[in-house]
Amino acid sequence: MTTITLIPGDGIGPEIMDAALLVLDALKPGLDYEYADAGLAALEKHGELLPQATLDSIARNKVALKSPLTTPVGGGFTSINVTLRKHFDLYANVRPARSFPNTRSRFPTGVDLITVRENTEGVYIGEGQEVSDDGETAVLTSKVTHKGSERIVRYAFELARKTGRRKVTVVHKANILKSTSGLFLKTAREVAGRYADIECNELIVDNTCMQLVMRPEQFDIIVTTNLFGDIISDLCAGLVGGLGLAPGANIGEHAAIFEAVHGSAPDIAGKGIANPCALLLGVGQMLDHLAKPELANRLRDAIIATMEAKDALTPDLGGTGNTMGFARAIAARL
Ligand code: NAI
Ligand code: MG
Repeated sequence: MTTITLIPGDGIGPEIMDAALLVLDALKPGLDYEYADAGLAALEKHGELLPQATLDSIARNKVALKSPLTTPVGGGFTSINVTLRKHFDLYANVRPARSFPNTRSRFPTGVDLITVRENTEGVYIGEGQEVSDDGETAVLTSKVTHKGSERIVRYAFELARKTGRRKVTVVHKANILKSTSGLFLKTAREVAGRYADIECNELIVDNTCMQLVMRPEQFDIIVTTNLFGDIISDLCAGLVGGLGLAPGANIGEHAAIFEAVHGSAPDIAGKGIANPCALLLGVGQMLDHLAKPELANRLRDAIIATMEAKDALTPDLGGTGNTMGFARAIAARL
């Protein structure tokens, strides 16, 4: 049996985690679960947002399924998600976006792409943040390394090979950000040269946003630096039906954390109406990672079939269903 760490999280977190476990049970994946706390739930129980026991559990099991966490505003708390990515050096943030039926989205067909976002560098290193005494000037440091660029672009090309995708688009702003984005682009070209079987093109980030909105079907895999990837992947989620359908994987050499892209949704927490699909699609990514692709594909097929049948859809998709009803409808198709 493989043991994975489960972090039920805050707000709608425990609700969608229950739904995910109900569906996982129907798949009989042969997994054992070890529960761990993080976020507000951990602060209330243990007096800290990210207890050592949780870090130990992830380090031991190497795979975690995490629901959204609430980072308290103010009080000098750094984001737990950023802390986890740093602690385990989870350098690849992998965010698929694909068209689903019956979502009221702008692209009910034709979108099937993956954003591979560098997850540890760029302006998110949080260094050099200064505001002048008169409050007139603010600066911030960005850091891009050859090593960091090489491994994320290599990850994107390897992902293309593994999933039978044909094209990698390198997204940058090297015309203006000559040092940081320039190094990223130069390194990406080096790496691309080693993958003659995969088509590679380069696109400046602002043009990428316009192209995504006008003709998203031209994209297959996008690889880019941290900030651009953060923004582009939310844009892609918006193309296909919103946050309720957007999963993300944070992958490093020694650990991987699978999650929904969305947050703890305090506005609907406790109502039992959160869409469980984002976390469930994260479960699909986790099953792929655990070398159980046939289970992952069955899960994705069951989600699509449930949406096709408009069975028990949650309100964000225009339905009148609830979280557990949606999960039961998916599980019934397994
Ligand atoms: P949010 O993603 O929680 O909510 C934004 C909007 O989307 C809300 O209207 C919410 O109801 C809706 N929504 C989100 N997930 C949904 C789902 N599964 N089904 C249906 N509707 C859904 O973002 P917000 O409000 O900015 O952040 C709330 C809290 O979440 C904050 O404390 C923030 O720090 C945290 N957060 C945590 C993340 C994580 O742990 N990965 C990621 C983003 C935010
Ligand atoms: Mg984001």
